[in-house]
Amino acid sequence: MSYLLFGYGYTATTSGWSKWIQFNNTAYVENDMLGNLAYASHVLLAIAMILGGSLQVLPSVRNRFRKFHRINGRIVVGLACFISLAGMYLIIFRGTVGNLFMHLLTSFSGLVILVSGYMSIKTARNKNFTAHKVWAIRLYLAANGVLFFRLMIFAWFAVFGTLGVNTEDFTGITVMCVSLASYVLPLLMAEWVRDSNKHLKPIIAFPCACMLLVVSAIFLLGLFAIAAGSWYPSVVR
Ligand code: HEM
Repeated sequence: MSYLLFGYGYTATTSGWSKWIQFNNTAYVENDMLGNLAYASHVLLAIAMILGGSLQVLPSVRNRFRKFHRINGRIVVGLACFISLAGMYLIIFRGTVGNLFMHLLTSFSGLVILVSGYMSIKTARNKNFTAHKVWAIRLYLAANGVLFFRLMIFAWFAVFGTLGVNTEDFTGITVMCVSLASYVLPLLMAEWVRDSNKHLKPIIAFPCACMLLVVSAIFLLGLFAIAAGSWYPSVVR
């Protein structure tokens, strides 16, 4: 969120949004107003969505401020759906790095966001809070897929360099596996965690806890690598 705020937000107010190409070379294209608006709304609304979404998953906020949770939840779902539709527009009309398989996986996560957003509101309105929690977690994981991708690929760069990555068009076996691990695996892992919570058998719960520990370590490494190698240098120029 700090990267988006101090990078995209600050640059837009001080130097204008055409300077956004310092963050991403598809961020601004001359004479493509609609595409630029789609990109701008995509990244700027993400700031509000990340903040609002994080408050939704905090039990202390959820339990003490129920009305806030209800209103904020609708805003977060609306933002996530809008951001996803803008993202799909960008992939189709502006294009991005990667191949069709990766574009389909990102679009799949956009679809999961739309469906989970709808279902999490529907189940809450029907007061089916067990199902609501399941759909809200799916929404949260799918909406964070783009972040998981960046953390995992930078963790890989930190350890293995560009092994398995075609740096010219950002394809290759590593990028495809990391795409799968970012957009599909977290959803499957959430089902596993839910199942292991249900049975509470050590034989299921222990490997599940170990897996979460490994994922946390990868994310932590990725966070250091992307902050030092990409976010910080592109903001502080
Ligand atoms: C709601 C979840 C999402 C969030 C929070 C999000 C956030 C972002 C952010 C912060 C960027 C700028 C990246 C940077 O400067 O490094 C970005 C770029 C982009 N996003 Fe998303 N995004 C989401 C979902 C999607 C979806 C579902 C799609 C497509 C189906 C998509 C397509 C794109 C594209 C094409 C770019 C341009 C950057 C590139 O070429 O890599 N996003 N997104």
